[in-house]
Amino acid sequence: MALRNIRQMGDEMLKKKCREVKEMTPKMKQLVDDMLDTMYDGNGVGLAAPQVGILRRLAVVDIGDGPIVMINPRIVASRGEQTGDEGCLSLPGKAGVVTRPYYVKIEAWDEDMEWYEMEAEDLLARAFCHEIDHLDGHMYVEKIEGPLHDAVYEDEE
Ligand code: NI
Repeated sequence: MALRNIRQMGDEMLKKKCREVKEMTPKMKQLVDDMLDTMYDGNGVGLAAPQVGILRRLAVVDIGDGPIVMINPRIVASRGEQTGDEGCLSLPGKAGVVTRPYYVKIEAWDEDMEWYEMEAEDLLARAFCHEIDHLDGHMYVEKIEGPLHDAVYEDEE
C-alpha cells in the first residue's frame, strides 16, 4: 500500500487541465493502485490524478460498490437534477451544496485500457461529475450554492 500526498485547494495542480492518458504503463498502473489506496485511506468516494499532482485524465471512484477506474472519461449523456452536499479530499472537513445531473452516462477506459460505458444515478453520477471536473481544473466550491460548511459525517450522526 502506497499513499500519495493529496494536494489541497489553492494548489496550482488543482487548477490545470489534464492531458489524456495514451497508454497504460507500469508507472500508470502503480498510480491507479496508489490512488485507490489514498482514496480509501481518506474515506473518500473519489480521487482524481491532479489531486496527487499528476496532470493526467485519470480518476477513481468507489461509492461502496467496488472500485471504478476512469481513464479519459467523458460524459456522453445527462438527465435530471440533484441538489445536495458535496465534499472533496482536497478540502477536508468541509462541504457545500452543489446541483448536479441526477443521471449521467460516461464512457471511459479501464486500467487495462478496455473501453466501457457506464450509466450512473444519484451519488455515483455526482461522483463522476465531481471527478471529471477535477480533470478540467475545477473544484466543486466554484459551483456551491450558499456557504461552505463543516462536513457532517454519517458515522458521527
Ligand atoms: Ni474532489
